[in-house]
Order: sequence, then structure tokens, then C-alpha cells
Amino acid sequence: MKSKRINILLVEDNPDEVVLIKEQLLHTKDTNFNIASVGRLDAALSWLAESQAEVVMLDLILPDSRGLETFRKVYGRFPEIPIIVLTCVGDEALASQLVKEGAQDYLIKGQGDIGALVHALRYAIERHSAKKNSQEALKRLRELNETKSQFVAEVSHEIRTPLAIIREFVSLVRDETVGPLNEKQCKCLDAALRNCDKLTDLISRILDLARIEAGKAELHRTKADLTSLLMQFRNDFTPVCQTKKQTLVLDVPDNLPMAHCDVTSVHNILTNLIGNAHKFTPEKGTLRIRTKEEGRFLRIDVEDTGPGIPRDSLEKIFEAFVQIDRKDGPGTKGTGLGLKIAKSLVELNGGCISVDSTIGKGSCFSFTLPVYDKELPSRILIVDDEELVVRMIEKVLRYSDLKLEVKSTLSGLDSLIIAGEFKPNLIILDMHLAEVGGEQVLLSLRQQSRQHNSKVLIISGDVHSLTEVVRDGADEVLAKPFTPNDLLDKIRILLNLEPKTYLEPIEEKGR
Ligand SMILES: Nc1ncnc2c1ncn2[C@@H]1O[C@H](COP(=O)(O)OP(=O)(O)OP(=O)(O)O)[C@@H](O)[C@H]1O
Ligand SMILES: [Mg+2]
Repeated sequence: MKSKRINILLVEDNPDEVVLIKEQLLHTKDTNFNIASVGRLDAALSWLAESQAEVVMLDLILPDSRGLETFRKVYGRFPEIPIIVLTCVGDEALASQLVKEGAQDYLIKGQGDIGALVHALRYAIERHSAKKNSQEALKRLRELNETKSQFVAEVSHEIRTPLAIIREFVSLVRDETVGPLNEKQCKCLDAALRNCDKLTDLISRILDLARIEAGKAELHRTKADLTSLLMQFRNDFTPVCQTKKQTLVLDVPDNLPMAHCDVTSVHNILTNLIGNAHKFTPEKGTLRIRTKEEGRFLRIDVEDTGPGIPRDSLEKIFEAFVQIDRKDGPGTKGTGLGLKIAKSLVELNGGCISVDSTIGKGSCFSFTLPVYDKELPSRILIVDDEELVVRMIEKVLRYSDLKLEVKSTLSGLDSLIIAGEFKPNLIILDMHLAEVGGEQVLLSLRQQSRQHNSKVLIISGDVHSLTEVVRDGADEVLAKPFTPNDLLDKIRILLNLEPKTYLEPIEEKGR
């Protein structure tokens, strides 16, 4: 008995091919195929807009469209419908490219294998629905994670104010401003103050982490002199080390190149690592900060002569709230957030962190920061389906005097492939692309770009939609029409470049 009924739109301009495919499918035993066919792309788009199809079988060469464009136009407007591309022998490379872009499968025409055809149809539908389910689950997970971060941030914020007030009143009493105290009372109030400070520290760490996880950490990466930053840090931290008679050694080579980093983050990372080294290393131990140049990175080692960390815990300690059980050792008190925050900050600054440790001898935490290289061009990818706009932006960038490497595309789908290879520092993205929704491209680019730290600047003529895209993950927005200097200002801020202005060319050579 035939059970399921599957609606198929067959887009094919060769009547013989249509008859052949229909014949094959109508004689399938356990599935009931309902096949509509059209021979042009415009007819296919109108059909899909009005009727429902579980799957589209799409010939790429049609009277009104050819090749990649045929697929992109259907997929761009109806991404929720699985598409099987029909190709000829020899077009397999193109077909597999389309599978990468979102087609569910491809079939080579004229091979007459009915089993393979039915199999491809069923699997295309199943795969597509599995993909849709996992995308929805991912979206839900992302929303839940965002809600969690927001909740944590709001609750922490709300606790901070009353806590500060409690602390103020307790210190008023402790300082005997409101009357004399006996020794016992002083001790009680000292304990209350210590715990207020501990709680304040915990809350500010939780807030830091929530901000980083929500992508809201404010980073200003600039050219930074690591040598003087470390010397200042050593001077500030030496008195803390003296409380445990520890020695703090700084070992920096001459002519260390400048780093490209956010100075506040580096301070925070060092405070966490040296703070741990000081806390876990017994009295009279040695803490050492060493730096060296390693290719295009600067490596900073923070070494101690403490108890060491068991091998099987080395990975885990970078997770939130993980503390290795060491009841008898020094420094067991803490929140377990320090290393998680340090790791996130190192990664946001374009580096990585690792640890090496030997039980009974000590630990060495190492992190890297990129060398500041002013000669390196910043890579920019322009994505806009209006060719005139793309050319205008290219022209502004060319005459800006900034050192840039620029690529552009009129297609949102192409932009995903180009971005994967080009790894741009900045993507200038039009919100209203013809073939696929700008939000969809933004979401995919955002996922890709997080891996290589790209920024996304959204341009749009629709001013109202701009506030929403910031929520969706854009780093900056710019309303059209804009002046060349408006655009350059945004680029300069996003890429941390020196101020440059646009000089109107007197004549454009060769154009
Ligand atoms: N230098 C070190 N020597 C030995 N153990 C360490 C060292 N640094 C970290 N650890 C281990 O890793 C755990 C996690 O460190 P992390 O800095 O995240 O948390 P914490 O120091 O316990 O608390 P917090 O930094 O939030 O106040 C520590 O509790 C400790 O067990
Ligand atoms: Mg710590």
C-alpha cells in the first residue's frame, strides 16, 4: 500500500526528460509522488510562491536562467524547501559546489536509475528536515544562553548596589564614626568587611564573564608597549609578593616588538595568572614572567614554583567554576572564574593560552598576543547586490590612503564562501540582498567571523532595521546614503586604524 504523498516541483525544460522522470516516479511502489512540472525559472518561482512542495528537482539550464544563478535564485527565495539539482555528465564539480551552498543532493540526468532517484528524494526531505530541526534547536539554545547571560548580568548588577551600601554602613561602624567599639566587635566587623569584598569580587567576575559571553566586552585593540606594561605590573605586584616573601622576576628581551592588544584585557589576564601563581605558591617561592617573540606573536610565560597541577586536570581548569581539590594546600579560596576569564580575553585579543605543569615543581601558564604590524593590510569584504554601491565603496577605500586588501561580491551566498577563505578583518554587508535575507547572511557570517575575529558593518537604507541588526550581531551600522568620510570613520574605529580622510581624486586613472 502506498502510504506517503510527496509533492514535487520538477523544473525542467526538456519535455522528454519530464515524461521520463514522471514515469519513473509514478511507478514507485510504497510512495505516492504528486509531480508538478514547469519549464522556466520565473514559472518555478511563481509556482513555489503559491503552492506547496516538499522537494524541488531543478535543472540548472533553463531558457531564462543558467548554472549557479538558477539554484541561487530558487534557494535564496525558498531556503526552507529542499532542492535536488539535475545535472549532466561532466557537471559534477558544479553540482558538488551547489551542495556546499545548500542543495540537498544532485542527480546526473539520463542514468535512468529509479532506485537512486527515489532514494535521493526521500533522503533529501529527511536530511532537510533534520537540518531544519537542528537549526531551530541551535537557535533556541542561543536564545536560552542569551537569556541566561542577561539574567546573570541583571541579578549581579542588582546585588551590587545593596552590597555597596552594606559595606559603607559596616565601615562607618568599624571606623567608630558612630560610636566606640570593643575589640571583639572590631573583629566581627572586620570579618563582615572581608566577606563583603569577597562577594563584590565574585559579582564583578560574574559580570565580566557574562559581558564576554554576550559578546559585549569592550575591547580597544591598539599598538601597545608590552615591556613598559610588564614593568609597571611588576612594580605594582612586588609588594603583594612580599607578603609571602616571594620573589617576582621579570625577564624581557631588548627590542621586544609592540603588541596589538587591548591593554585593559592584558592587565586582567596578568592579574589572574600572577594572582594564581602568588596564591598557590608557598612562601619564599619564585614567580617569573618571561616574554619572547614567536613568529608574528609575542609569547608571555607566567611561571611559578608552586605545587603543580595534576595532568588530567590541565584542560579542565580553564572551565568556569573548576577548582582542583587541594584542601591542605595554600590558596584554596577563590571563585574558579579567573582562568575562564583569562582564556576568553586572550582569545578575544587574537591569541591562545596553554599550561604546562609538574606536580611538586610548579606550573607555567603561557599566552600569546599578536605583534603589531602596521605594514599588514587590513582585509575588507564588501557584500552588496547593487553594483554601483560596491564600486563607490571600492573607490572610497582606494583613495583613502589606508593599507587595505579589498574583495567584493554582489551575492550573499558567495560572500559566505569568500569570507571562509579570505578571512576578512571587516565585512561591509548590505542588509537587503536580492537573493537571500541579509539577516541570514549576517547570522552565518557572524558564526564564521567569530572564529577569525572579523567585524561586521551593516549598511542599509532602512534606518529602522539598523537597531535590530546590532542585536543580531552586527558590530556597527551605517545608514545609506553616507559620505566617504562617514564610512572611513566607521572603518577606522572598527579596525583601530590611524585617522585618514578621503581625498576626492582629481581624475580617475584608467577608469
Ligand atoms: N599557578 C597555579 N598553581 C596551581 N594550581 C593552579 C594555578 N593556577 C590555577 N590553578 C588551579 O586551577 C583552578 C582554577 O583557577 P582559577 O584562577 O580559574 O580559579 P581560582 O583562582 O580558584 O578562583 P578565582 O581566580 O576566580 O578567584 C584553581 O582553583 C587551582 O586549583
Ligand atoms: Mg584565580
